[in-house]
Formats: sequence, structure tokens, C-alpha cells
Amino acid sequence: MNAPTSAGADAGAHDLLRLQVRAIRLLAERTHAFELASADGTPLPGFAAGAHVDVHLPGGLVRSYSLAGDPHERTHWLLGVLRETEGRGGSRTLHEQVRVGDFLPVSMPRNAFALVPGAAHTVLLGGGIGITPLKAMAHALAAQGASFELHHCVRSPRHAAFATELRAFVPAGRLHAHCDGGDPSQGLDITALLAHPAAGTHLYYCGPAGFMQACADASRHWPAGSVHFEHFKPPATAAVPATPTGGFEVLLARRGIRLRVEPEQTIVRAIELAGLRVPTSCLSGLCGSCKTDYLEGEVEHNDYILSDDEHRRCMTPCVSRSRSPLLVLDL
Ligand code: FES
Repeated sequence: MNAPTSAGADAGAHDLLRLQVRAIRLLAERTHAFELASADGTPLPGFAAGAHVDVHLPGGLVRSYSLAGDPHERTHWLLGVLRETEGRGGSRTLHEQVRVGDFLPVSMPRNAFALVPGAAHTVLLGGGIGITPLKAMAHALAAQGASFELHHCVRSPRHAAFATELRAFVPAGRLHAHCDGGDPSQGLDITALLAHPAAGTHLYYCGPAGFMQACADASRHWPAGSVHFEHFKPPATAAVPATPTGGFEVLLARRGIRLRVEPEQTIVRAIELAGLRVPTSCLSGLCGSCKTDYLEGEVEHNDYILSDDEHRRCMTPCVSRSRSPLLVLDL
């Protein structure tokens, strides 16, 4: 996939903060923590556990990273980033080109993975660097005195990012590290763990593709609305959107502009060709940067982030399309 475009001029660009990299430290194998703060010490905006920000990297890349720190901490934001050797270049750029003292434009936090308040118990299940949003959730739940357990599945202790920090604040008996030596069958038995959900329990999981699939399979019988997850990248088993047989038209209602979206084109691209821009980051239906309300039309939702409820009113124009000849967007 091509590098994502930068945040749009029409929405969001003015919301970018210019943050300074205050510290970079080794967390685990190929994984570093990046602390971002305002240069003058101004407190950063608050965020809720599970939120992520878009970081504008040197060379024009924009990448979304979960905020891993304590949501009550306003002096800096904490990212935990695994250097992906076969990724799209974002984590490599961050590791190789960004140094302490550099300034990076960073979006305001957005949250598509928020904790549901009032759960009787919460199970947090992180695979590898998927621990980042769950660590923020653990901070929030610990501060509330809520009942929770956190499981971190890793290859070995050397691969366990934030292990020391988690031990420092997660109450005794609630933090479980599972090392599998690279063979998932030797690690946590996710099926057994999730076999009997107690009433009022909510599950949150995040991690690499195989881990996500295992969690999805093991939690299929959980009550509706009690399972929450966030993908890093489109799941390997994701259904390939049906190849459209034809294009469709999009009406940008607020501007009165009508656009043609060709069969092989995304709505985001058609909008760009008209000289306008929608804020984007992942271009994969994962981050919610481009989330847009629609007013009329039937949407073919191809994202991995919006809930059924959200699908009734909004869509992600980076990957989703229209089944009807005309789609009216609130743009
Ligand atoms: S750009 Fe990330 S969901 Fe559309």
C-alpha cells in the first residue's frame, strides 16, 4: 500500500500539535518508547484509554500510534513502537530518522477503542506490541479500583514491552505474562481463558493477525457488545471487497459538489482529485481518521473500526464505497 497522505487542509490540519521528542528508550527487542511533550511544558490535552494519535513523520508519512501512558499524565504522551522490518516504512522512519529534540506534528487523540464504563470485570489481552492501548486501559482501571486482569502474550521476556512499568502499577495477581518461544501452541490457551465469560465481563484485545484471529475465534460466543478489539493492519482473513462493476457518484452536501468515483478509485482519491482533502492516515479502514457522516445512500462498509451503530450514520471513504448510484456525504 502507498504511504498515507497527510492530514487534510479542510479538516484537522489546524488541530495538529507540534510536539518535541523528549525521550527515546529501549523497551524490548526492536521496540522503543517515544515520549512526546510540548516544548514549553504546556500540559497536553487529556485522552481516554484506548486512544491513538496520528504522528506526521519525516518524509510525509503519517502513522497512527496508540497512547500507552497513564491517561491522567498530561506532561507527555507515550508511544511504544515496534520496528517492523517488513512494514510500510513508518516504524522504520521513526526508529532511524527521529531523534530526541526533534519536533513532530501530532494530531489530537482519537478513540475508537474506548473502555465501556461500569463493567463488572474486564479482561485485557495483548499480543506483542498490541499491549500499548491495553496498558493505558490498565492505568485507567487501576485508578478506578476496577476489577480487571491483563494478559500479555510475547515470544520471550526480551520481547515484553512495558513489562517493568506494568509490574509497578497493575495490582498483584492481575498481570499475567505468557511466553511461547515463538510457538503459539506453547503460550496462553486463549480458548480456555475465554471459554466461560462471567456476566458483565468485557474483553479488549489487540495484537498481530494470528493472535487477533485466535481471540476472535475464542470469544465468538460472548454476549453482543462485550468484545472489543483494535487491529494494527487489515486482518489476513479479511474479505476482499467485491470488485465494483461500476462507479458511483458522491455529493459533498455542504459544498454542493458532485463527484464521479470510478470503479478502481477510492472516495478519498476522487475527493483529492477535486482539489479537496479528507484527513487520512492508514488508508486501510483501521484508524478512523477519515470517518465521515453520510446523509443518503447505501454504503458498502469495508472498515475494521466502526461499530454497527456508527455504520448507520458514518463511513470511512478510504476503503468503503457506495452500493447506491449516489452517496451524499456531510462534507
Ligand atoms: S484513513 Fe484510516 S480509516 Fe480511513
